[in-house]
Amino acid sequence: MRARVDTAQELTRFHYLTRAVALAAGVQIAHTPTLEEKAELARVAWEQALAADAFRERVFELRYPVRVLEAWRDPGAETPIAAGELEHRYREFLAATDALDDGPTERIVRQAIADLHERSGAWPDPRGPFAVPDFPPKDERYAHHAFYWPDTIVAGYPYGEGRALQIRAAVSHLNEVWAVDTAGAILYALAAELGWEWVRDAGRWTYDEARHMLMGKRRLDAWGLPPAATPLGGYIYEACAGQDPLYRLGMLGYFETKNIGRKKERAQAFRELGDTTSETDMEFDWADETLHAEYGRRWLKELLARRGEDPEGWPEVLERCEQLVAARLAEATDVEREAIVTRADNLLQLASS
Ligand SMILES: [Fe+2]
Ligand SMILES: [Fe+2]
Repeated sequence: MRARVDTAQELTRFHYLTRAVALAAGVQIAHTPTLEEKAELARVAWEQALAADAFRERVFELRYPVRVLEAWRDPGAETPIAAGELEHRYREFLAATDALDDGPTERIVRQAIADLHERSGAWPDPRGPFAVPDFPPKDERYAHHAFYWPDTIVAGYPYGEGRALQIRAAVSHLNEVWAVDTAGAILYALAAELGWEWVRDAGRWTYDEARHMLMGKRRLDAWGLPPAATPLGGYIYEACAGQDPLYRLGMLGYFETKNIGRKKERAQAFRELGDTTSETDMEFDWADETLHAEYGRRWLKELLARRGEDPEGWPEVLERCEQLVAARLAEATDVEREAIVTRADNLLQLASS
């Protein structure tokens, strides 16, 4: 039988090991071109953050009333353990655990093993990369347009109604790829400054954005629209090239949630069109976004405070985000404008035939 103090020590190690996997999964998303592989990494980031959080809370229970782990280690200094090696450690741990003494821990470890099993094929590469890329590689199956729909760079191009609205919303969802890349990048890049609770929230945030991206993919695939005819781009991500990750947090907390008020109305429009899948997708997206808006507010203020700046200075951060996006939009060329209009018109044509 394993003693209480030993258990707390081992769970502390598990916390750091799973945290390292969550961080590696996060930062590797933007380096991974294929949408499905990004989504798998996002799921690993979320599940490993959940496991790490459960280990941490259990350590606190075992050491009550002390609520600190042994040492807050530098998150960037650890490389992720291989899935097989981690599973081996879990199983060794379970073999020495007494279910009557420590059933709550056993339950956490069993869940961790189950998640690991399901996702071991999508495990992050222990060798990296461990830096946030300024320009992520694109999924080659899709038509690459940095500005993924004309209405962002062509004045007067309609958002659309009916079929066109369904397509536009699905293309929007698909193009949340920038949000997936961003969430994963800042999960990693801000971990040292913001600490554990940030990693936990960012894991969920990353996973949610990956779900939104796949919602779009699922709709477009169901309508038989070929990826090669579907625009995919990441101008909001690209607008942050070379910038402090603070602005990536601002982008995700602001640009990704600013249409929140529209989502209810869109869900209603889809219902009237008889498209209950798009309606349900939008309803769940709306619920996620309310959570994300809260993450954005909380963590932007927290980051400013931790840097010794005024936490109420967040509107200036968002203003800078607006400027960065405006600057990226100003780089759009007439060739890009023409290309995206042709691409969008063609996609709408395919959808209506
Ligand atoms: Fe989203
Ligand atoms: Fe979001």
